[in-house]
Amino acid sequence: MRKLVLGVAALCLSGMTAMAADDPIAVRKHIMASVGAAAGLSGSMMKGEVAYSPAAGKSAIATMAAAASSFGSFFPEGSDKGDTTAAPKIWEDAAGFQTALDKFAADAGAAVAASGKDGPADLEAFKAAMGPVMGNCKSCHEAYRVKK
Ligand code: HEC
Repeated sequence: MRKLVLGVAALCLSGMTAMAADDPIAVRKHIMASVGAAAGLSGSMMKGEVAYSPAAGKSAIATMAAAASSFGSFFPEGSDKGDTTAAPKIWEDAAGFQTALDKFAADAGAAVAASGKDGPADLEAFKAAMGPVMGNCKSCHEAYRVKK
């Protein structure tokens, strides 16, 4: 099962790399949309609207980690123009953006480590693992995203 998942992930990633040559804006927006979906699932479980399960918790955390480690690859020079809400500050303050990416990836990596083989055992464990990851959204968006 794990091999299958990894294989599919590798296929997806190679698909993304192929797209990147053409349209990095579309790729990074798709990656963030997956982050939004994982955050939505997490929020629903935290609020008790969706019953918590370790498998779902693990899936949401894995999505965050995959996004955090790939997102930064899709901001080449010139991709500030177009159908994007990425702020010019990403390119003006590349080091600061990298720091925000690194923190997101570090928090997601810690959540992966905490989630173990079967996912966080219960909702409390899931909240403890995912909480810090969710703390990255607002700060990065406020600094590096324009409201349109
Ligand atoms: C390191 C910075 C960073 C972090 C952390 C981050 N985002 Fe984003 N996000 C962005 C940027 C930049 C965009 C705009 C991308 C574009 O339009 O090119 C974006 C766009 C989005 C979008 C819109 C995608 C679309 O289809 O246009 C959603 C939804 C989103 N983020 C959700 C989240 C959530 C939820 C989190 C926290 C779990 C999060 N983001 C964390 C930088 C970040």
